[in-house]
Amino acid sequence: MPPQTSPYETRIVSAFEPPASRRPSPRALQLATGWLERHVPVVIPTETVYGLAAPALSRDAVAAIFEIKGRPLDNPLIAHVADLQQLDLLGAELTPLALRLARRFWPGPLTLVLRTRKQLPWVTAGLDSIAVRQPAHELASALIRRAGPLAAPSANLSGLPSPTRASHVVADLSGRVPLILDGGDLEHGLESTVVDARSETPALLRPGAVSAEDLGELLGCSIEAPSRREPARSPGMKYRHYSPRAEVWLYAPASDPSSASARELASDAAELAAAGQSVAVIARRPVTAHHFIQLPADQRQVAKMLFIWLRELDALGVDRILVEGVERAGIGRAVMDRLERAASRLAGGGGAPPREVEL
Ligand code: TXA
Ligand code: MG
Repeated sequence: MPPQTSPYETRIVSAFEPPASRRPSPRALQLATGWLERHVPVVIPTETVYGLAAPALSRDAVAAIFEIKGRPLDNPLIAHVADLQQLDLLGAELTPLALRLARRFWPGPLTLVLRTRKQLPWVTAGLDSIAVRQPAHELASALIRRAGPLAAPSANLSGLPSPTRASHVVADLSGRVPLILDGGDLEHGLESTVVDARSETPALLRPGAVSAEDLGELLGCSIEAPSRREPARSPGMKYRHYSPRAEVWLYAPASDPSSASARELASDAAELAAAGQSVAVIARRPVTAHHFIQLPADQRQVAKMLFIWLRELDALGVDRILVEGVERAGIGRAVMDRLERAASRLAGGGGAPPREVEL
């Protein structure tokens, strides 16, 4: 479905008052509640990425989310709650596993897929399960406490990188939403981890800000991400995602500057530049290119900056972004998942990343 063009003059209002504090702004809360009561989605900060939020129980408001983003109708949304009690309003059923996970990781960037007693097909895309999470963000919690559970996908146009600062949302949704609450740069910069917690055995559907190691430590077992070649169990995972307009080529992490992958990246950068392309490189060690971004050693910092870099490089109008991968450990798994989905080419004989559907 093509995204709608709405007649809104978008207002950007600080989520906090005073703006440098972490205290939810009463004015921001009042404005947001006003729109939500009229079944109109608004953009809110969370600790992961900005969300395009609407009351989960309002069919019309949630339908508007799909229209505003141009989101495929078969891709269900996450319902955000302020506490465990609000799960009842959604008919969501906690299993013993889910309760354990929620006690340890909520509020926080963990989404649980649960069975539901209620029919909310506009949120669940007709599935018999519902994805829920309790965000750890002062403004988001205060708003959900007032307005009730909010369905919210990331506040980007479908297919583009998730927004982690207000200017990203403005670039994608200006004119389509009446209100953006500006919470500055967000804590994680990458989406929540999605776990199917309907049975005794957890299934990781989307790696995210809570690492598989953290989950495994609590549960005393190892948690594997689903194989790329298995059918997607989380509908959103079958889509190409997070892609900037520039083409992304992804390389294996380079152990040292003379490793095959480091040499391949540097020679591709030189060849592309010689062919007249504007080339950006994101890597651990300096590479000659039109734009170079040095990968920080701290994976949390990489996660926080990744979508910011992709959008910044798009704004600079580069043709290609060559990225050195990171180690698949901790939040590095989620970083690699997003990079693989953004990439059109995996270097080192990897070819094009496997995908069922492209947007
Ligand atoms: O951090 C986040 O999770 C952000 C913030 C705003 O909370 N939200 C977010 O939402 O990333 P979205 O819509 O961009 O991604 C939700 C993912 C999709 O991959 C979707 O398919 C999956 O969750 N999902 C939702 N409901 C599901 C269900 N019932 N079963 C399996 N997967 C589900
Ligand atoms: Mg998204």
